[in-house]
Amino acid sequence: MLVAITREVSPAIGDCELTHLERSSIDVEVARDQHDAYTTALAGLGCRIEQLPAEPDLPDSVFVEDVAVVLDEVAIITRPGAESRRGERPTIEQALLPYRPLEHIEAPATIDGGDVLVAGREVWIGLTSRSDHHAIKQFRRAVTRYGYRVHAAEVTGCLHLKSAVTAVDAETLLVDPTRVDVDQFSGRRCLTIDPSEPGAANVVRVSDAVIAAAAYPRTAQCLVDTGYEVHTVDASELARAEGALTCCSLLFEDHGT
Ligand code: GLY
Repeated sequence: MLVAITREVSPAIGDCELTHLERSSIDVEVARDQHDAYTTALAGLGCRIEQLPAEPDLPDSVFVEDVAVVLDEVAIITRPGAESRRGERPTIEQALLPYRPLEHIEAPATIDGGDVLVAGREVWIGLTSRSDHHAIKQFRRAVTRYGYRVHAAEVTGCLHLKSAVTAVDAETLLVDPTRVDVDQFSGRRCLTIDPSEPGAANVVRVSDAVIAAAAYPRTAQCLVDTGYEVHTVDASELARAEGALTCCSLLFEDHGT
């Protein structure tokens, strides 16, 4: 059984961190409706949803992906690059405790889960304003014993590595080649987004299906044409907070069921 840990949209989401986006007004009710549609899509694909309550004092806390990386063997609790987000960790730790042993990234390292791309036993960690070499070293130390190989990845023009590349299956990546050099991912098949749709590379793989943002219909059609089962959701209001689809869940297998 796949579990999806999510968190309700904070009423303070309008005060979120922004790095590559201009601030624009966020309608909290619309963001909540979109988030509901997202969790419904995950549930429809067989995920058991564990939704944490909203955190009124943590504007970015709906973006649970940044606070942990859950592998089959262990969960890594991150040290988010934005100080305002570090208070998101205790509740995520509590939520993950029943499922995995926990490891922690420690200061001075910083890393957001949005910078961590896992495909099979390969892990790429984006070097961004949020994630650094110290974290890559600590992450590698934590997961090498399980057979993972950890690589640093260069990425430009976006917040996180997974703004520019996500896995659509164990062997295949969806890539925005204007933001990442595809040669970094040798050994993987790389599909490219439609060039008119920057941002389209962030999709959520759920078993054999993919959830894609409705804002990028050409890339979604390309995935369909390639043989993927694609479900689209409108995440436009959440995108104003510089969050993408993968940011809104922690997806992993519950080995106990
Ligand atoms: N607003 C998403 C982030 O900056 O972490």
